[in-house]
Amino acid sequence: MLNFKGKDLYIEQVKFADIAQKYGTSVYVYSKNKIICNFKKYKKALSPREGMVCFACKTNSNASILKLLSSLGSGADTTSGGEIFRCLKANFDPSKIVYAGVGKTVQEIEYALKSKIFMFNVESFEELEAIDKISGRLKVKAKVSFRINPYVDPDTHSYIITGKKGTKFGIPYEAAVSAYLLAKKKKNITISGIHYHIGSQILDVVPFKLAAQKIKKLVDKIEKEGINIEYINCGGGLGIKYESGQKVLPVKNLISEIFSVFGKEKKFIFEPGRSIIGDAGYLLTKVIYRKNSGGKNFLITDAGMNDLTRPTLYNAYHDIIPIKKTSTKKVKTDVVGPICESGDFLGKDRMLPVLLQGECLLVKCAGAYGAAMSSSYNSRPLLAEVLVADDKTFLIRKRASYNDLLINEVV
Ligand code: LLP
Repeated sequence: MLNFKGKDLYIEQVKFADIAQKYGTSVYVYSKNKIICNFKKYKKALSPREGMVCFACKTNSNASILKLLSSLGSGADTTSGGEIFRCLKANFDPSKIVYAGVGKTVQEIEYALKSKIFMFNVESFEELEAIDKISGRLKVKAKVSFRINPYVDPDTHSYIITGKKGTKFGIPYEAAVSAYLLAKKKKNITISGIHYHIGSQILDVVPFKLAAQKIKKLVDKIEKEGINIEYINCGGGLGIKYESGQKVLPVKNLISEIFSVFGKEKKFIFEPGRSIIGDAGYLLTKVIYRKNSGGKNFLITDAGMNDLTRPTLYNAYHDIIPIKKTSTKKVKTDVVGPICESGDFLGKDRMLPVLLQGECLLVKCAGAYGAAMSSSYNSRPLLAEVLVADDKTFLIRKRASYNDLLINEVV
């Protein structure tokens, strides 16, 4: 949904320069049509079978974006009481909300039960005991899947691998059957499915397939014990193209590979996050100063690591381009923020044209885990967010003020 008209870069039919002018910088900008298009790919790929696409709302939990997704019929994958709250406020049908996470507290479990969410993805034996006990107290039955760790190691950053032996996630593969046998005996628990999620930003089909095959083996064993597994929840994890040359797995291929592993009678849940919102969002930032130091060229922008933490946290690559075509020669440049840490960079050693002070840069693929992971470190107010639909722009989050920095502080 990006295109140049003359020298100017547009998102849908709006010039980025106009967005910078109207809303100020730095600012997160999203394309509504791209989000819809990404979501529909999942809907279509899932359509031969029964099931749900549950947007992983940790990826981007802006209320307007969640509302857009719920209006398209999405369910939600949540990971805290706060996310369940946000999803209910954004009109998600509670019967389409699933809830994973290794550390659900008593308060969160109570809140989820009272909110009548669809299912808990249970990650430990002790959590099962807690859910059973709390359900009994509230006189309700909890629907559960166990999140199983399939011991599959996807090729991605170590911080975002979750399905490998030795990570904190899920029930250990070898303990899965006993978890189901225990759950079968619990008065306040209804077993509904099985869940797995092996990691994020995965580009290759092989680990997805391997995990599905290992889970299928378990499903067969569990069903032999007289326990019905209605839902197969395959998690999220599909990668997007951050760098030119990266080859991305199409949604329909991923889903049809997974379907081919399981029987036709199964219902499916997919929990995509990044592949719905990642390439639909951008961070628009302005060059404040330029400097040459130690033989390096620096562009100092008004966005820092507090606004987009992925480059420093995961050494993640985000493409960075100017929003105006220019014929000046390209030079090797570090794009850095104003924060007092050397880890405060958006990109290193990038070939960029020589820009002037006040010109803008666009950091691409910033829709997923961008605003959601931002903070006000260095007392920098959280950024504004803008949704673009055709030729219109909508402010979906106001820029925070200095006063907002003090909210909840007691003096
Ligand atoms: N389901 C579960 C249970 C998850 O834990 C996650 C993400 C997803 C679904 C969605 O995965 P996706 O489709 O977005 O890959 N902050 C990191 C990514 C953390 C992923 C956490 N779990 C990053 O910026 O790369």
